[in-house]
Amino acid sequence: MSLPPPNVKTASRLDAIKPSITLAVTAKAARLKAQGVDVVSFGAGEPDFDTPEHIKAAARDALGTPAVARYTEVGGVAPLRAAIAAELGRVHATTISPDDVLVSCGAKHSLYNLFIALLDPGDEVIIPAPYWVSYPDMVMMAGGTPVIVPTSPEDDFTMRPEALRAHVTPRTRAVVLNTPSNPTGAVYSKAQVEALAEVVLERNLLVVSDDIYRSLVYGGATYASMAAVGPELAARTILVDGVSKTYAMTGWRIGYAAGPTPIIKAMAKVQGQSTSNPTHLAQLATLAALTGPHEPIEAMRTAFDERRQTIVELLRAIPGVACREPRGAFYAFPDLGAFVGRAAPDGKVMSDDVVLCDWLVDSARVAVVPGSGFGAAGHVRLSYACGMDSIKEGVRRLREALLTLR
Ligand SMILES: Cc1ncc(COP(=O)(O)O)c(C=O)c1O
Repeated sequence: MSLPPPNVKTASRLDAIKPSITLAVTAKAARLKAQGVDVVSFGAGEPDFDTPEHIKAAARDALGTPAVARYTEVGGVAPLRAAIAAELGRVHATTISPDDVLVSCGAKHSLYNLFIALLDPGDEVIIPAPYWVSYPDMVMMAGGTPVIVPTSPEDDFTMRPEALRAHVTPRTRAVVLNTPSNPTGAVYSKAQVEALAEVVLERNLLVVSDDIYRSLVYGGATYASMAAVGPELAARTILVDGVSKTYAMTGWRIGYAAGPTPIIKAMAKVQGQSTSNPTHLAQLATLAALTGPHEPIEAMRTAFDERRQTIVELLRAIPGVACREPRGAFYAFPDLGAFVGRAAPDGKVMSDDVVLCDWLVDSARVAVVPGSGFGAAGHVRLSYACGMDSIKEGVRRLREALLTLR
């Protein structure tokens, strides 16, 4: 008797979920590199710097204690939650109890916990586009409906209050605010945040404030906090933050959230039945990051700023490329729309930005992420969190390749 084939059908819940395009581009570049191909990758959204020495030293010390081999409280050790509460309280001009802080395995995990904890089937979350690739898919995995609000380059890709208002329905639970933005590098001004806050109060929304890039601002731009607008806003805002980007700690996987008690409690319930505590050692390293010297952080920010200015200048010098000035995070987001529809010397047509990006990595050995993954077809994202030499060589390759398109 022959057995029926194993039933490996996966949950239909996942049918509409796309794999992360940034991770896919980064993985393709890494695969090519491993085969000995000399690829310049602008894919990865992570600093190329090493974690500062004092943070690694704290982790080495912690390794000498038996406690580090043990579980911690689900939401993180008390001293870390206290340090996070103090830091976020200072940044957002509010008072945060350590009990209203949940430490997770990266801000990505914090966001996932949040959407699972918050959303009933059909609940809507407003997401301005261009958006970080994971928001819509996370909302969908949680059973919610992402509602995408287009923005325009003329507004520096920031969402106008009237656009927010126009997308609110009785099912809207929350709006995502990501400033500085991945992928655009746009930074909302205080006046813009205040204008959005009016709509948030008027329509009684929650705000998911993804502040993972808040320390990486340049050229006089400053981070403006929704929670700091006033106590009514602080009571409606879930702060999502972490050490990945600011402290060059992507691999340590620590992020955190703070917000209204019932929501943080529900998120802790989700975490308690899924991952439990984030790695104990990484929590202790994070405590050292938050309480340690600031100079290494400022040195990285300054380096990012220099790279930012160089990459924007080089991109703008390519005929046909338009590039706004990103004022935060570590991404340039040029418009390559003028090259879509053109053909390569071998006749291959660049039918969209995904085909264009594939062609760039295959023929010019330069990896950039197609904007359609971020809800902005025709644009591409380049992470400048790589060395200056890579920036110069990578943009040279990009230029050379683009100029062969007819
Ligand atoms: C906008 C945004 N939010 C959240 C994250 C998650 O960062 P992590 O999980 O490393 O803390 C990222 C990482 O790329 C991001 O770009």
